Amino acid sequence: MWTRRNVLKSLAAGGGVLAIPLALRTAFGAGDPDLLLKIVAAPASMAVRSGQETRGLRYTGEVLRGRRDAILPSAGNLGPTLDLRRGERVRIEVENHTGEPTVIHWHGMIVPDSADGHPHQAVGSGSSYTIEFTVRNRAGTYLYHPHPHRLTGRQTYGGLAGLLIVREPGERDTGLPAPEHELALVLQDRRFRQDNQLVFKRMMMDDMNGVLGDRVLVNGVDDAAFKVAPRVYRLRVANVSNARIYKLAWSDGRPLRVIASDGGLFSRAEGVQELPYATLFPFERIELLEDFGARRNGAEIALVSKAFAGMDMMGGDGMMGDMMGGMMGGGMMGGMMGPSQGDELHIARFTVAPGPRARAQALALPGEEARVVEGKYELHTQVAFRQMRGFLNGRQFDSDDMTAVADDERLPVGKASVWTFSNDGRGMPMPHPIHVHGVQFRVIERSAGGVPADLRGGMHGAGFKDTFGIFPGERVRVLIAPQVAGLFMYHCHNLEHEDGGMMRNCQFGA
Ligand code: C2O
Ligand code: CU
Ligand code: CU
Repeated sequence: MWTRRNVLKSLAAGGGVLAIPLALRTAFGAGDPDLLLKIVAAPASMAVRSGQETRGLRYTGEVLRGRRDAILPSAGNLGPTLDLRRGERVRIEVENHTGEPTVIHWHGMIVPDSADGHPHQAVGSGSSYTIEFTVRNRAGTYLYHPHPHRLTGRQTYGGLAGLLIVREPGERDTGLPAPEHELALVLQDRRFRQDNQLVFKRMMMDDMNGVLGDRVLVNGVDDAAFKVAPRVYRLRVANVSNARIYKLAWSDGRPLRVIASDGGLFSRAEGVQELPYATLFPFERIELLEDFGARRNGAEIALVSKAFAGMDMMGGDGMMGDMMGGMMGGGMMGGMMGPSQGDELHIARFTVAPGPRARAQALALPGEEARVVEGKYELHTQVAFRQMRGFLNGRQFDSDDMTAVADDERLPVGKASVWTFSNDGRGMPMPHPIHVHGVQFRVIERSAGGVPADLRGGMHGAGFKDTFGIFPGERVRVLIAPQVAGLFMYHCHNLEHEDGGMMRNCQFGA
């Protein structure tokens, strides 16, 4: 195999750089990226469920230069998967034909702020822009999605989202299944009309709870089914739902073996986390190691989201639930108001094909990452939701001054700071997925008793994170050490809360 570097070397060795014809010189110039990709966001009509096609938006992608397999096709209304290698220099041209402003954010990726896809970088329909970054993240499962102010929820729900996988050669030594025995599962709940068209916001309640669906699309299609060999698989599970929290479990009750979260594999010291189910907030990811060989031939099992006590305003614990449930009876409210947080949902079917069972290889998780020096910085953010809007330290995103940063939103680079989030502001008690751009951090502490009893067993404290859930009354402390200076953001990743302004800038390297 000829890598670009090999080609360069051999060209240089065989007669010097000057001998290279012009066309090659521009293609292989020193400042040139390893990959030149193009991504287009545009309206599309897609086969999402049987029957009529679903209209919406979709990303399509193309490799203009470099590894052909850097973009992998996808089905339904999911964007293609970007399959990148750590260390690669990537240039991406983004073209917007959606009919409204948009911009792509590379969720979880440590990129310069010029490439981050901040709302102030959104371009109008008919325009394009180019960004560039070097892949510095650890191998792991990341995402890309739109981030224009006030339009993120609708555009993502309409179909704009995709996976971004980072690989590195060292992964081969871990004993993990090779890419052929890997499955990515992108979970997105949706609501459909009879004619298969998407139903987005219908009422005020949707701005408060976030838009919830009663069907779960997996990789852009409804009623997903997978045929698997009787062996171990690596499953990359990403919650790309606007507001849905999943309580993921196997229908046959087997525990989940979690080996990675947002920012890649757990360390050897952390080990495999065996959980009865996994609690997954919007835009969190986990990776599972699943031995389908432990099931009998032909076995059919389902991945489901188990019911849990509702935490939206319709739920048993919510104020409105009490109020309106008292007025009209809870069951009737449920039917009238549509899907709720905590509903039991079917996700996907897996059929184990007959065949010889392949033995599981021993797993060798990577060693601990070098610890960063701890700085003296501490940040505190109080999370609150009232009058239909979310607040961070009493503030909202300033749409007139999109790059505004307050003093308590600055963090040093190269030093670890402790950032404490407390979900105890005045207003409605609600869970929120909190996300910080441009950095991977660790959750180091949760206040005792904050996680509801029926979701507690699905929480793990391991690995690097870029998104974490915070429950009503809870306090969560994260250890965070940005590597790249610039203007980034932190926000609630319930997309309706985010669009409602529950979002702020943060400055790294103040
Ligand atoms: Cu996944 Cu600011 O976003
Ligand atoms: Cu992000
Ligand atoms: Cu929120």
